[in-house]
Amino acid sequence: MPRYYITTAIDYANSNPHSGTAYEKIGADAIARWKRLQGYDVHFLMGMDEHSMNVEKKAVAAGMDPEAYCDGMEPKFTDLWKALHISNDDFIRTTQKRHIAGATEFFRRCHAKGDIYKAKYVGLYCVGCEAYLKDSDLVDGRCRNHNTPPQKLEEENWFFRLSKYTDAVRRHIEENPEFVQPEIRRNEVLNVVRDGLEDISISRSTFKFGIPLPCDPSHVMYVWFDALINYISAVGFPDDPARFERLWPADLHVIGKDITRFHCALWPGMLLSAGLPLPKSVWGHGWVHYKGQKMSKSTGHLLDPWDVIEPHGADALRYFLLREIAWDRDGDFTWDSFTLRYNADLANDLGNLLHRTLNMMHRFSAGTVQAASEPDPKDGALAAHLEGCFDGVSAAMDRLALSEALERIWDSVRRTNQYIEENAPWTLNKQGRTARVQTVMANLATAMEYLSVLLHPFIPQSAGRIREQLGLDPAPGALSRAFVLRAPGGKVREGTVLFPRIETREPKGN
Ligand code: MSP
Repeated sequence: MPRYYITTAIDYANSNPHSGTAYEKIGADAIARWKRLQGYDVHFLMGMDEHSMNVEKKAVAAGMDPEAYCDGMEPKFTDLWKALHISNDDFIRTTQKRHIAGATEFFRRCHAKGDIYKAKYVGLYCVGCEAYLKDSDLVDGRCRNHNTPPQKLEEENWFFRLSKYTDAVRRHIEENPEFVQPEIRRNEVLNVVRDGLEDISISRSTFKFGIPLPCDPSHVMYVWFDALINYISAVGFPDDPARFERLWPADLHVIGKDITRFHCALWPGMLLSAGLPLPKSVWGHGWVHYKGQKMSKSTGHLLDPWDVIEPHGADALRYFLLREIAWDRDGDFTWDSFTLRYNADLANDLGNLLHRTLNMMHRFSAGTVQAASEPDPKDGALAAHLEGCFDGVSAAMDRLALSEALERIWDSVRRTNQYIEENAPWTLNKQGRTARVQTVMANLATAMEYLSVLLHPFIPQSAGRIREQLGLDPAPGALSRAFVLRAPGGKVREGTVLFPRIETREPKGN
């Protein structure tokens, strides 16, 4: 079985996850689930990034040891990921032994290569970015990303000779179009790399919460140098070479557009220095805005994912974010657009389709799938449409166009509703055309089953409920293009409402 190793960014432990960070995990989950359906042996990694100045600050303010503070934060992430049905296989924390061992060995290799040296550095540091800023990162003297003034830092630090890898990284990006995606991110990174990469300070002596450098334990490793290594320390580097060999290089790093440079310039430079292969692909997705404005941890303008999950279910949030916000660009969450999409697509198109199908199966077909003994060209047209949908979804998923894949599926949901209208089983029933009614019902039950498999990566819980109501195992069936009519005899259940209609209801205090 071919393997597929997918990762997301590991989130800073100093604040709760929000709908932007959740969007990334949901998108990666849809990809991981799709790959599993395709038969890949998927390994899906997520985690928590702990050795940051902001984490130490928060812990000190709370009078806590930073690691104990992070222990308290872990469930804020893992509980949410569970509630969202994120199917990660592993969750790494950068304070774990395996990671510290990996980061230490990695540093040693770069040091042995002659790529690490000590020097004095004076610069403007943004704690939000955990990075020194360049003039081009400033707007009116403030960080472009965080709108906060940077701190002037003067330190004698250990540096990584990133400049040495400028040409190799540039060539790699130029020669491997899939390495940085989407195109807009690739162009941004290429501009940065073509300007020349500068050596980067990778140690701190002013704070203590971090991994001590093997060559100088009075310094701890810079949080980004440390964090990027999670992708390999989680899969056996350096202590389990067989596992590492099997899983590395990763097939896909899913990250937000603000951290593409770290993943597509620094990380490849680090890997080249350590003599390790580069990941196959990095996807820098866009931003989720809230009510037309950028979400911000510092101002608290955030959409709390629980505000959607608790009243409306995880799939409502998953569906909205994946459908409305194309995976390669920014998009906005408003309660009005959420309500519109939920009612139109989930409650109306999909929910009604299932409800009508099950109702008619009970009324006209004794709740059982019967033989399709009276076929009609309308059936072939529906089957052809669904098989076309399969091709469209597969092609969209190959390009990681998640929203487009959903668009294709909803095309077929509506087409299946249209199949009901054009066959009008209630009229056929009145006319006593039992064989034809049962044939229509068999086609409908098959179409719903077919759609449930395609829906699984995006709304896994609802796809499972659809299958249960159809009398099937809730786990998705095999992914197969062929529309093969269900064998007679299967029983369906009474339909329950999958997505009750909602009124716009913005939680108080938002
Ligand atoms: N700890 C670093 C990542 C290290 S990876 C080796 C970090 N953490 S973060 O908590 O600030 O962000 C985690 C992820 O969420 C990043 O990929 C970031 O781009 C993404 N997002 C943060 N806000 C977001 C939105 N508003 N919308 C979409 N993604 C967002 O960066």
